[in-house]
Amino acid sequence: MKRTDVTKEDNSLQHIAIIMDGNGRWAKKKGLPRSVGHKKGAETVKEITRAAGEMGIKYLTLYAFSTENWQRPPEEVETLMGLLREYLKSDLKELQDNGVRIVFIGERSMLPADIAEAMRKLENETADNQKMTLCIALSYGSRQEIVHAAQRIAVLAKRGDIAPEDIDAKMFAGLLYTKDIPDPDLVIRTSGEQRVSNYLLWQIAYAEFYFSDVLWPDFDRKCLEEIIENFNARERRYGKV
Ligand code: FPP
Repeated sequence: MKRTDVTKEDNSLQHIAIIMDGNGRWAKKKGLPRSVGHKKGAETVKEITRAAGEMGIKYLTLYAFSTENWQRPPEEVETLMGLLREYLKSDLKELQDNGVRIVFIGERSMLPADIAEAMRKLENETADNQKMTLCIALSYGSRQEIVHAAQRIAVLAKRGDIAPEDIDAKMFAGLLYTKDIPDPDLVIRTSGEQRVSNYLLWQIAYAEFYFSDVLWPDFDRKCLEEIIENFNARERRYGKV
């Protein structure tokens, strides 16, 4: 079968997607409130973005807040929104200096209006940067993303704009939040958990996985380098022999 939904079939590493897990356990281990773990986790976001850019990674996608995370206690949601607010307002200069284009994927209507506005502004201001794309998954859920795409296809079909046979993987991928971003080559999850947690379900069809035991606040450039070395030693076959 011809595959039309990926941009390449080779061993190169252009897109890393990370599930940043373990902020809460990091704080607990130190006898600190969970909010301190998230704060340290936000610092790790900056360090890893910098490192990935310097290592020539073209796309980095980070899972900052899932649709399921809205169910956490209100004070924890507020802490995470506060950190995001701070991040969105403070980082423009560094992103510009390093040629980072920022894009957000997720359900924006659920976010506080000032955050949605800051996201739109940051996306516009960095739109022409070419060194690296930093994609932040925020209020993101992959099943919801796929359901939205299916709803849009149903509308097009109902209007008579498309016939059922027009629907293929390429068209479907073009209706996802990630339509302008190639599929991840490598998915990393920190903290020892081995789950996908509703992250990029469509896009990771042929991704390699790496589960690191390191808690996200302790994750650093060296951890990333070691994982990339491990990835480079793998052989990807994309279902072929
Ligand atoms: C998992 O830790 C992490 C999150 C729920 C979100 C990640 C958020 C950040 C790294 C901080 C803010 C992000 C940005 C982009 C500024 P957990 O709370 O699930 O940890 P646990 O499983 O140990 O409890």
